[in-house]
Amino acid sequence: MNQDDLKRQVGAAALEYVQPDSIIGVGTGSTVNCFIEALAASAIRVEAAVSSSEATSWLLENAGIQVVDLNQTGGLDIYIDGADEFDPHRRLIKGGGGALTREKIVAAASRKFVCITDASKQVSVLGAFPLPVEVIPLARSLVARKMVALGGQPEWREGFTTDNGNWILDVHNMDLVDPVSMEKTINNLAGVVTCGLFALRPADLVLIATEAGVRQL
Ligand code: 5RP
Repeated sequence: MNQDDLKRQVGAAALEYVQPDSIIGVGTGSTVNCFIEALAASAIRVEAAVSSSEATSWLLENAGIQVVDLNQTGGLDIYIDGADEFDPHRRLIKGGGGALTREKIVAAASRKFVCITDASKQVSVLGAFPLPVEVIPLARSLVARKMVALGGQPEWREGFTTDNGNWILDVHNMDLVDPVSMEKTINNLAGVVTCGLFALRPADLVLIATEAGVRQL
C-alpha cells in the first residue's frame, strides 16, 4: 500500500463518525481531501460543513456540500482533520498546509476532533516536523528572533500567504517535551497569530492508517 492508498483508507474510515444531516467541521490537506472524496461518494448527506481553508471550501462546494460560516452554526459535534505529527497523548503538530489558525478555531468549536493520519506521522515526542507559526507580516523578524531565543531555527515560508493574509515561520529543532507550555509561550508572543501545536486542545481520537488496517488511538 502506498501513502495515497493509506490516506484513502483512513479518509473513508472517518465516515463512521459523520452523522447524517449534521453540520461537520472539515480540516485541510491531502488526507482530508480523501475524506471529502469518500463523503461525496457515500450515501451520507450532511446539512453543511464549516471549512478550515479556502482550498477545502472549494473542494466541498465542488462535491455539492454547502459551506457555512462558523458564526452561523455555534458549536459543532465533529471536526475531521489531518496532522503532520502526533504523539501518544494525541497532541499534534499541524500547519504543513498553512491552515493552522482556522484549523485551531474549528477544532476549538467542536466537541469531538477526529484526526486522520497514517503510521509514518507517529512520534514519541513532537518536533521532528518543523513547527509552523503564523505571524502578522510586520512581526516576522521579531518573532523569528524570539523563536531563536526559545531554541529553534526559524525559516520563513517565503512566497506563501495564509488565507488570513499572514506569513508562516517553520521552526526547526524546537524542544517540545512540554508542548502545552510551549504552545502557551509561543501564542503569547506579540505578532504571533497562533502556532501549529495542538496540545491545549489535542485530538480526541486519532485514526491511523496502516498496512493492516485502521488503528485507533
Ligand atoms: C494543514 C494541516 C494538515 O492537516 C497537515 O499538513 C497534514 O496534511 P496531509 O494530510 O496532506 O499530510 O495541518 O494546515
